[in-house]
Amino acid sequence: MAEFLAKNDKRTKYCGEFTKEDIGKEAVVMGWVQRQRDLGSLIFIDLRDRTGIVQLAFDENTDKTVFDKAFQTRSEYVLCVHGIVRSRGEGAINKNIPTGEIEIAVSSFKILGTAETPPFEIVENSDVRTDVRMKYRYLDLRRPDVHHNMLMRSRIAKITRDFYAENGFIEIETPNLVKPTPEGARDYLVPSRVHNGKFYALPQSPQIYKQLLMLSGFDRYIQIARCFRDEDLRADRQPEFTQVDLEMSFVSEDDIMTLNEKFVQHLFREVKGIEIELPLQRMKYEEAMRRFGSDKPDLRFEMEIVDLSVILKECGFKVFSGAIANGGIVRAINVKGGAKFSRKEIDALAKFAASYKAKGVAWYKSSDGEISSSYAKFLSDTENEAIKEAVFFEDGDLILIVADREKIVCDTLGALRCHMAKKLGLVKKDEYRMLWVTDFPLFEYDEESGALYAAHNPFTMPVVEDIKYLDTEPLKVNSTAFDIVINGMEAGGGSMRINHPELQEKILGIIGIPKEIARTKFGFLMDAYKYGAPPHGGMAFGFDRLITLLLELDDIRDVIAFPKMQNASEPMSDSPGITDSQSLADLGISIIHSEEDSVK
Ligand code: AMO
Repeated sequence: MAEFLAKNDKRTKYCGEFTKEDIGKEAVVMGWVQRQRDLGSLIFIDLRDRTGIVQLAFDENTDKTVFDKAFQTRSEYVLCVHGIVRSRGEGAINKNIPTGEIEIAVSSFKILGTAETPPFEIVENSDVRTDVRMKYRYLDLRRPDVHHNMLMRSRIAKITRDFYAENGFIEIETPNLVKPTPEGARDYLVPSRVHNGKFYALPQSPQIYKQLLMLSGFDRYIQIARCFRDEDLRADRQPEFTQVDLEMSFVSEDDIMTLNEKFVQHLFREVKGIEIELPLQRMKYEEAMRRFGSDKPDLRFEMEIVDLSVILKECGFKVFSGAIANGGIVRAINVKGGAKFSRKEIDALAKFAASYKAKGVAWYKSSDGEISSSYAKFLSDTENEAIKEAVFFEDGDLILIVADREKIVCDTLGALRCHMAKKLGLVKKDEYRMLWVTDFPLFEYDEESGALYAAHNPFTMPVVEDIKYLDTEPLKVNSTAFDIVINGMEAGGGSMRINHPELQEKILGIIGIPKEIARTKFGFLMDAYKYGAPPHGGMAFGFDRLITLLLELDDIRDVIAFPKMQNASEPMSDSPGITDSQSLADLGISIIHSEEDSVK
C-alpha cells in the first residue's frame, strides 16, 4: 500500500547536494531507489534524484519496523526519507560520487510509489536497443546521462534567451497552424473542421511571420521555435525540431554573422569553457565545394580534394579522359596513411561511392615501396608521377580518384573524405572547427525537371551586384545566404530578404511560381511589402544540433525528450494513430488507403 506525503515531508536538499558540511544535520530527501544492498545486519539504499545519488543507511540502531521496510524496497521504488547526515567513516568513503563521504542514517521513510521490475536497468551508457528505450522513454529519461542531456538543454535555452535579450531582441511567438511555409520539405497538414476541405500546415519554420514582424517594426525578433518537416530522417534530422530563430532590421548579412558568431562564442564559453576565436573563417560556397566537396566542410582534418583534370585530359585511360571529354572532371583525395586498408576495404569504397551516383573509385597505394593500383597500368609514368606530385603522395598513402560530372565528383569525394577520416580516427568530437559558408548560388538547377528552384528559400535576397543577371544568366546570380558549419554539420543558416515587391515577383517567376499561384500562396506577404518594408535578414540555428555538438553526441534524438524513430513513429504513445469515423466525418475526410490496408 503506497503512502502519501504529509505536511512535514518537506525536502531539505536534493540527493546529490549533500557534503561533509551537512554532517549532524537533519535531512529529508525524496527520490528513486537506484539499488538496495542487503548485508544482513546492514542495508544500504542508493537514492537517486535529478542531481545524483545519496546513500541511505539502516543498521542495528534503526527502528526494527523501518529496517524491515527497507528490506522490502526494490529498484525504482519512490521514497520520502527522514534521517541524520553522518560521516561514512574512513574505509567506506566512495570517491566516485560527490556525496561519497556521507550517508543518511534513516530514522523513518515512506514508500510513495512501488515499481515493477523495469524493462532495462536505469544506468548510464546502457546498450539497450533504441526501440525499447523509446517505448519506455520515461524510464530512459531517468538514466543519468540522458537526464543530464535534458538538464543541459534547459540551461542552453536559458543562455540563449539571455544572450539575445541582452542584445535587444524581443521574444515573440508565431502560430503553429499556418499557411504552408516555403522551406522546401513536405508539409505536415492539419485538416480544418470549420472549413472542410481546407488545411493548415504546421510551420517548417517561422520564416514568413518573422519577416512580417520586421515590417511591423519590432526590429529584432527571437524565438526558440518548433518546426515541422515531413522529410526522410537521419541522425541530425527529426520531423519536429527546434530552431533558435531570429530576424533583424536595418542590417547587412555581415552584421547578422558578426552578432551570431558572438552568440556561438558565448555558448561555447558558458557551456564548455572553450574560447572560440572570432571572427570565424568565411568561405565561399564555390571554394568549399572545390576543396572539400561539400557546403558543410569538416575542417577538423585536411585531406583536401585535388583536381587532376589538366593532368588526365589527354590520358589513354577512357574512364578519366572520357569523363573530361563529356564535360566532367577528375579529382582525388590523398588518404594519408591509407595504404594500411586492405584490398577488401578499398573495394567496399566503390559501393559507398555508388550511393553518391559515382560509377567507381580508382585507387593507388604503396606500402614499403610495394605499389598496387586499379589505374596505374593504364597511365604513363609521367601521368602517374604527376598525380602523385599533385596530391603530395608519400609511401604509406592511398589515393582515391573519382571521374564524373562535377556534382557527382564533389558529392562522392566529399563523402569519402569524411568516411576515411572516421576510419582513420581523425574525427575528434571534443575538437571544434567552425566557419561560415557564404555566397551560395541563388538558384539550383534540377536536372530531372530542367527547372530552377530557390537554393535557400524564395525570399532570399540576391547579391545586389548580381541582380542584372537575373533575366539572362540566373545561375550566375549569388545569394546573400550563409550557413554556419560546425564540425561538418550545418548548425544554422540565414540570409537577407527581398524587401521590394517587384523583385520578389520576378524571382517567384524565375522559379516557376506563376503570379496567380504566388498571389494565393504569399499574396498577404507581398501586399505587406507595399507598406514600407525595412531592409532585413536573419537566420536560424538548429537548436537540437547545437546541443548535440556541445554535448559531443552523435544523434539529435539524445537531446530531445520525446523524439521520433527513423520512420517518424513514436513507439511510447504509438503515434501516429488512427482516429474514429466521427472525427473524420467532422473534418470532411474519408480514408481511401490506410497503413493497415497495405499491411493486410
Ligand atoms: P534552414 O532550413 O536552413 O533555414 O533551417 C535552419 C537550421 O535548422 C536545422 N534543421 C534541422 N534540425 C533538425 N531536424 C531537421 N529536420 C532540420 N532541418 C533543419 C539546421 C538548419 O541549419 N527559415 C530559415 C532560416 C532563415 O533563413 O532565417 C530556415 O529554416 O541546423
